[in-house]
Amino acid sequence: MSNIAVLVSGGGTNLQALIDAQGNVLQHGKIKLVISSKPDVYALHRAEKSGIDHCVIAKRDYITQEEFSTALLKKLQSYQIDMIVLAGYLSILDETIIRAYPDRIINIHPSLIPSFCGKGYYGLKVHEAALEYGVKVTGATVHLVNEIPDGGKILLQKAVDILPSDTPEVLQQRVMEEAEWILLPQATEMIAKEIEGK
Ligand code: GRF
Repeated sequence: MSNIAVLVSGGGTNLQALIDAQGNVLQHGKIKLVISSKPDVYALHRAEKSGIDHCVIAKRDYITQEEFSTALLKKLQSYQIDMIVLAGYLSILDETIIRAYPDRIINIHPSLIPSFCGKGYYGLKVHEAALEYGVKVTGATVHLVNEIPDGGKILLQKAVDILPSDTPEVLQQRVMEEAEWILLPQATEMIAKEIEGK
């Protein structure tokens, strides 16, 4: 069984999808720790409710990125974490973490990469950009995390139609329901299983 850490910054609906997938879609991994980049986010409440250890490690509490990364890595190692799932996590991970977990960090992004991704594309901005451009199909992507924002190898993708009546908020919700909450547990299982087989 792989030990999983889920990193969050917000409402944590993707975290909830992972919690709910444990024992069904997610067979080879267990969520041991939830780390938030911000205090008082609903994701922490979800972890608490499910009896999962949780904490806040915020970049602004550290003077340098290096100190922040060291604190994060120490915490992950203290829980013997095998893989990291970024579920709406808004801080950037540097090479300290990426090198410690090669091909063992995954991220969910709410578009079909390589569209509407990279620096500046997060949260509602992704859906605003898709509507502005006029694309008729969007979706979600789960990819491995490397040093390039949204630049790692793609693991899974799912397309979602854009409707003429969509607002960014409506589209965001549909992309979550039809793609993100399905893909993230599946991709987590893929990596957890792979780790177990090694
Ligand atoms: C999701 O749209 C995810 O793709 C993006 O941030 C949002 C997080 O939502 N990276 P939640 O915190 O999981 O509800």
